[in-house]
Amino acid sequence: MAKKKVILTGDRPTGRLHLGHFVGSLQSRVKLQEEGNYDEMFIMIADAQALTDNADNPEKIRENIIEVALDYLSIGLNPEKVTIFIQSQVSALTELTFFYSNLVTVSRLQRNPTVKNEIKLRNFEANIPVGFFTYPISQAADITAFKANIVPVGDDQLPMIEQTREIVRSFNRIYKKEVLIEPVAVLPETEAALRLPGTDGNAKMSKSLGNGIYLADSKEEVKKKIMGMYTDPNHIRIEDPGSVKNNPVFTYLEAFSTEEDFAKFLPEYKNLEELKAHYQRGGLGDVKIKTFLLNVIEQLLEPIRSRRTYYENRIDEVYKILERGSKKAASIANATLKEIKEAMAINYFEDQELIEKHINKYKKDE
Ligand code: TRP
Repeated sequence: MAKKKVILTGDRPTGRLHLGHFVGSLQSRVKLQEEGNYDEMFIMIADAQALTDNADNPEKIRENIIEVALDYLSIGLNPEKVTIFIQSQVSALTELTFFYSNLVTVSRLQRNPTVKNEIKLRNFEANIPVGFFTYPISQAADITAFKANIVPVGDDQLPMIEQTREIVRSFNRIYKKEVLIEPVAVLPETEAALRLPGTDGNAKMSKSLGNGIYLADSKEEVKKKIMGMYTDPNHIRIEDPGSVKNNPVFTYLEAFSTEEDFAKFLPEYKNLEELKAHYQRGGLGDVKIKTFLLNVIEQLLEPIRSRRTYYENRIDEVYKILERGSKKAASIANATLKEIKEAMAINYFEDQELIEKHINKYKKDE
């Protein structure tokens, strides 16, 4: 039998999804879906993981589950082809996390670079919630419950995949069964897609910095954000030579524009290389480039926006999609949990041999 191809990935519902998510991961999901070269594809809204550092703010998570679901559907993920589900509705994941946590040491978790970095970013220091500290284990449960072997993520998630692989190896070694599957991460192909900066040039697009372009932004909002983007601060007059390095307008063009876009919206240039060369020579104004970028982004966002409107008018249907997906996910995860309990020999009531053994052990003449 050919190896099954199971794709799983997900997002924490802490805010609407933006262009950074789009180039970093969302567009590759749609591409994978369209190619159809897989047995199952799961997209998880990781609400339980989001709660590990938002325990005091469950309302934020509740509100953002529907936002993320709308974002998924609006980019064209098709619930007939992929299973979209909510993490907390799949209880087997919590059980798996508990069993896996016996296979991981505190020092190994402390060494996880992503967790380390996030602890610093959140100023947790000594006040790290245990659930947050151990979320790599829960992420291993997310992946292995579905026997996913392909996990499309950004590079910040590589330590999570590595830790998952270690847990899989430990489990299979200790319980002497090849129950679990080692996943591999699939990363975005280009540097621009891996790290799309904010509109202000900051390395990260984030809500708190207010420097993101969201999939759900209106045309007016997008225009305002793009026309106000940070560029080369030394490019003051049109004739000045400009720098394309650390110039987010050019990074966005790297990530989004194609030769067809040049033919359509800016035919004086054949491709991005020509545009860059002119900018570096001098004589090319920022407004012209930003207008081109706006056209490129609007061409991308317009169909996304209209699909979003369609689903915004059918919220009950969206909840039904999530419910159906969660039920399907739960049944698959339960089947894996059953195998895992069997491998760990904690399936007492199905273990007739164990029961017989104890019957014989304690049998006495009455
Ligand atoms: N940690 C991921 C993020 O912050 C979300 C996530 C949770 C995930 N479980 C996962 C991603 C399993 C891939 C696979 O975006």
